[in-house]
Amino acid sequence: MSIRKADLSDLDAMVEVALVAMPMDPQWDYRFPHRKHYPEDTLKFTRERFKMFLENESGEWHVMVAELPSRENPTVFKVAAFAVWRLPPSGEQVASDAEKAPVEQRRDADVERMRAFSESLGEARKHYFERVYGKNRMHLILLATHPEYQRRGAGGTLASWGMEKAKEDGLATTLFASPMGRQLYLRLGFRDLGAIKIQVDGETESICVGVMAYVPASDEA
Ligand SMILES: CC(C)(COP(=O)(O)OP(=O)(O)OC[C@H]1O[C@@H](n2cnc3c(N)ncnc32)[C@H](O)[C@@H]1OP(=O)(O)O)[C@@H](O)C(=O)NCCC(=O)NCCS
Repeated sequence: MSIRKADLSDLDAMVEVALVAMPMDPQWDYRFPHRKHYPEDTLKFTRERFKMFLENESGEWHVMVAELPSRENPTVFKVAAFAVWRLPPSGEQVASDAEKAPVEQRRDADVERMRAFSESLGEARKHYFERVYGKNRMHLILLATHPEYQRRGAGGTLASWGMEKAKEDGLATTLFASPMGRQLYLRLGFRDLGAIKIQVDGETESICVGVMAYVPASDEA
């Protein structure tokens, strides 16, 4: 396996991975319950968002991909996983992206749940991250491995790359974890800071998102 910085030519491969991997995270179906009826909207908005990451006009994004020998032809490497990081000083993360996104235009999304998700993560970001680390942190926005290539170390390698870079730059690494991701992050040395329950008033459905950080020991930094 090898990892490298992504560029715009990786856009289609990243979208392909996301569309099959992200539904394994419960927050995806929670926020996009109509995705099976409007797959074109999921595709369009995912693609636009990833293009923004890759074009990186604001200078705050860093996208890495992991390549593995393809199942069809092991002599050919293909993009099997990717990670999107938000670099300081802006230190924002997925919550503020969701606020900026044109949620009402997405027929695949549930607007109330998108708002609840965005608000809850925004509050958690302030409470758990900004209050403690200020802008001195690197935030993992997205991590996904194609299901056919999972459990072969790609996700861990990409997460470790960011942890190492953050350590070199004297930063904490922060993230909001899915249930699958949490197991991996714990193994890599992240610790739980809390858990947030997201629920719209009057609904029985809810999701739980883990709040995690990795702070290198001071004698290692
Ligand atoms: C989380 C994810 C990125 C891990 O990618 P990966 O390439 O399989 O990662 P690695 O091979 O380095 O590590 C796999 C670890 O993930 C965790 N994991 C994978 N599948 C899991 C599952 N079904 N349940 C619980 N933990 C799981 C385990 O800790 C596993 O380690 P193990 O194989 O030693 O048990 C991948 O499972 C994925 O894309 N999930 C869907 C999207 C998602 O939840 N992303 C994380 C958002 S925070």
